[in-house]
Amino acid sequence: MIVVLDGPAGTGKSTVSREIAARLGLSFLDTGAMYRAMTHWLLQNGVDVDDADAVALASAKPVILSGTDASGPTITVDGVDVSGPIRGAAVTAAVSAVSAVPEVRVRMVDLQRHSAEEAPVGIVAEGRDLGTVVFPDADLKVFLTASAGIRAVRRAAQLGVTGPEQIAAILADIERRDAADSGRATSPLAKADDAIEVDTSAMEPEEVITHILGLVRQRVHA
Ligand code: DC
Repeated sequence: MIVVLDGPAGTGKSTVSREIAARLGLSFLDTGAMYRAMTHWLLQNGVDVDDADAVALASAKPVILSGTDASGPTITVDGVDVSGPIRGAAVTAAVSAVSAVPEVRVRMVDLQRHSAEEAPVGIVAEGRDLGTVVFPDADLKVFLTASAGIRAVRRAAQLGVTGPEQIAAILADIERRDAADSGRATSPLAKADDAIEVDTSAMEPEEVITHILGLVRQRVHA
């Protein structure tokens, strides 16, 4: 069983997909963490992330491994746990450029399909292009949305930020990343034709989880 959740940052995708995986006893894969891990390695190794040729060449080198246990997912690069540094500002600022490079995407997609094949029962995976490119035959495809303003407020709460100027800066960053992720030539953020769209703007995470678990049950019993 393959369940995919795609959508932009700040829709609650990570929390919701991990919880759904845990409740269903399935594996969990955060594909954004993989692009972040690659970006972290490139920055650490002095590769200019705006030079697509350099990124393409270097991206074959790091060994990126995702631990898919929903109760404690892990991500390592060359055996080193990078789960902390990949959430930092430097990686967040650079990851859109790195994830636009086709060679990077080819590698990541291979790894993502491999994770799904290795999953003992099934997998819940979250990302941007999973329903359209990585798992076109997924059993259930969900596309999560929320207004950019709501997503900025959620992100600010996560970071413990309250000032209007800081929230405005977060909103600008979200809009910049949305435009980069949706506008890139290779595998842009897009809703698959057969994905079910869920607008989480006015929903608590538990409501979203219950709703999607209901969709999974419908598919299983269909
Ligand atoms: O979900 P996230 O914010 O951790 O994702 C980080 C970046 O990775 C995001 O800017 C877009 C990119 N990404 C992607 O291009 N394809 C995916 N399947 C997942 C993430």
